[in-house]
Amino acid sequence: MSKYIGILTSGGDSPGLNAALRGFGKAGQDAFDMEVIGFRDGFRGLAQDRTLRLDGELLSGILTDGGTILGTSRDKPHKMLVGGKLQDRTEAIVDTYQRHHLDALVCLGGGGTQKNAVRLQKAGLNVVTLPKTIDNDVVETDVTFGFDTALGIITEALDRLHSTATSHHRIIVVEVMGHRAGWLALGAGIAGGADVILIPEIPYSLDRVAGAIKERNRQGKRFSIVVVAEGAMTCEQAATVQALLNRKEGAKSKEDKRKASLELSAFHDNHVDHTLHLTKHLEETTGIESRLTILGHLQRGGTPSAADRLLATRLGTACAELLHQGVSGVMVAARGDGVEPVPLEKVAGKKKLVPADHPWLKSARLVGTCLGD
Ligand code: F6P
Repeated sequence: MSKYIGILTSGGDSPGLNAALRGFGKAGQDAFDMEVIGFRDGFRGLAQDRTLRLDGELLSGILTDGGTILGTSRDKPHKMLVGGKLQDRTEAIVDTYQRHHLDALVCLGGGGTQKNAVRLQKAGLNVVTLPKTIDNDVVETDVTFGFDTALGIITEALDRLHSTATSHHRIIVVEVMGHRAGWLALGAGIAGGADVILIPEIPYSLDRVAGAIKERNRQGKRFSIVVVAEGAMTCEQAATVQALLNRKEGAKSKEDKRKASLELSAFHDNHVDHTLHLTKHLEETTGIESRLTILGHLQRGGTPSAADRLLATRLGTACAELLHQGVSGVMVAARGDGVEPVPLEKVAGKKKLVPADHPWLKSARLVGTCLGD
């Protein structure tokens, strides 16, 4: 008896999404007698019943393509902007699911998608998710697909920036993505030989960073590469953010909570200003010319790395097999060479941040990298 499975991609796009769609679709249709219906543009397309039939023809040749053939969005089922107003579209989504007689819905996404998946599971849908994001900040999985590709893109950029920094005897500050986690900055900073790596998990001292660069200069190293995660903060900024978090947690009214949330978002949205301030401060305090490079969405573009193609195919095919076995309400997590179905409740609403005792931090310090503390 055929199973009817819906699938969507949600949140920031990421290399490997098409590889995962291909792995799931080919395994589901060729090995497990499934009909696979793609929904366009994340949960918005699901609510609007905008579909794309993922047959063999469409899946052929997409393994190496970046982005997602389904399109994506950051829309949430329970808070979707319709006609200028935020509406709960959960009912419309349940209607679509039932109209297509779906046996399950597969959602490829990051932390936000995992939370939305739990909501839809509670609304009566059978949901399975795959952990996707370049940020690598999804808990309970060894790694997310997209991370390895972004790591390679940033590392190549750092290699290129080394040659111009050494030629001009400059400080080059490079801002990288990662949202509120420092995995990309730390991993690529080590791989790219950065002299300073600043991550959100370790609030930094401007003076410590300037001092490390001055010391390098005294040792004859007249250039420095400074990798800054977009969520990195000075010690003072971290105190401000903590105060806002405390205010949000302790808010007596919805309005206070909303205000604190808006102030927090505004702070994080200004990450480029913070990095520009750091760049200028370093030039002023060290006397060394400084330049800023914001890598931005380059880190999410283009073909997935071999590692991400392998990971995405593994997770996609394993997802089809688990659904064939009747499993749902789980995220298909990467565990070593295999996978582990993890209950969605264990994943939703959590973020995997760099722990203070992580081995990568030790390696960075042992090669003399300044971490701003
Ligand atoms: O979550 C992936 C990510 O690339 C983050 O690293 C980054 O902060 C965010 O998405 C950018 O979002 P958008 O593409 O919506 O600007």
